Amino acid sequence: MRSTFSTRLGAIAAAAGSAIGLGNIWRFPYMTGENGGAAFLLIYLGAVLCLGIPLMIAEFMIGRTAHADVAGSFRKLLPGSRWYWVGAVSVFVAIVILGFYSVISGWTLEYTWRALTNDFQTSVASAQLVTPDAQASQVLTMDFNAFATSQLPPILWASLFIAINAFILLGGVQKGIERASNILMPILLLLLAMLCVNSLTLPGAAGGLRFLFEPDFSKVTGQTVLAACGQAFFSMSVGMGCLIIYGSYMDDNTKIGKTALSVAGLDTMIAILAGITIFPACYSYNITPNAGPSLIFITLPSVFVAMPGGYFWALLFFILVALAALTSTMSLLEAEVTFFDETIGMTRRRAIMVSALITWVFCVVSSLSLGVWNDYKIAGLNFFYFCDFITSNIFMPLGAAAISLFVGWKLDRQIVRDAITNRKEDSGWYLMPLIWALRVFCPAVIFLVFLKGLGLI
Ligand code: PHE
Repeated sequence: MRSTFSTRLGAIAAAAGSAIGLGNIWRFPYMTGENGGAAFLLIYLGAVLCLGIPLMIAEFMIGRTAHADVAGSFRKLLPGSRWYWVGAVSVFVAIVILGFYSVISGWTLEYTWRALTNDFQTSVASAQLVTPDAQASQVLTMDFNAFATSQLPPILWASLFIAINAFILLGGVQKGIERASNILMPILLLLLAMLCVNSLTLPGAAGGLRFLFEPDFSKVTGQTVLAACGQAFFSMSVGMGCLIIYGSYMDDNTKIGKTALSVAGLDTMIAILAGITIFPACYSYNITPNAGPSLIFITLPSVFVAMPGGYFWALLFFILVALAALTSTMSLLEAEVTFFDETIGMTRRRAIMVSALITWVFCVVSSLSLGVWNDYKIAGLNFFYFCDFITSNIFMPLGAAAISLFVGWKLDRQIVRDAITNRKEDSGWYLMPLIWALRVFCPAVIFLVFLKGLGLI
């Protein structure tokens, strides 16, 4: 018998674990602040509601109906068709995302360690002994760059991270993924709540809230809308099959609509709380929040160095980020593992080893491409940024469009109806809006996101 999650809450915790990750804590706050605050937030909420939730329901539906791995699900639902390839490509996408995502996840472990050993303070203090007017942010920038472009340390941390993932997956669905999610997700919520309250009590916090929330409609352009959609896909983990796998572990009585709503709600709430944590802290210490990896690995450490009790808050923060990354990477690795297990026919144990090994190879290349191999470019980007670019701008939108069209047009209508109404037990009032969203609206909007991602519009 194939395993299922043992409780409804376990299913929500696991799927929310997949959704809540670096996308929420690091990408969302910055995007919101830069793209018009509350104006962006409103569009983002629209994207979650009109695109993210229908797609999430579609993925859960495919998985829960087929109870198989990503490729196997398409094959089971439409035997003999080429849709199987959508699933197979999704597995490849999971490998590529996991390759660079585990590099950043490894950084979060290094930074948890640095926080634990009070390294930010020590490093700034020792630099200031030599150059008294050295700024904390300059010192921390140098520290970060030296680390991220070095050879062995980032690879070792990322390897540890992949090993932890593999270890959890060895426990299976209930004792591995579900149990870990049930433990880690409440801890994550608690840590974030503490950090958030602390940030709000800092002097000058209001400036940060204004940066995040003050609606500035003048910054809203067509691009903002598309950026909000892209962010919604990435953050909700839709478009590459992870949620098909988690759907396949839901039992036939799970209400997929309600589950998707809870997961989307949690994902959005965490993203907003992360923004409320990060920006007031930056404003309170007069540190300009900036983009990309530097926001959590340089800007925030600079803030923690200046903050009373910064040792404690830094530690909590990096544990939070590492946990969030862990529950997301678990779902990506599981997508690989089930493919090798069920479609290729390996034992679960061997599938985990093989998946971890393949991921590790991608991860080593990604990490080295930031340092010694930075000169090898593909389409002008090093391997790390190339993987990031092709997954979020090409494969995820295409995957999302394919899944949407599959459920909207190809999947037997009775299957869709049964999945939504739980075989007539529920009203399923949203059946028609959902079908039309998947048939027309989602593919059309995704198409625009895709063209924008390629710079064609
Ligand atoms: N949703 C995760 C995040 O916000 C990233 C992710 C994407 C995870 C795709 C799984 C699949 O960080």
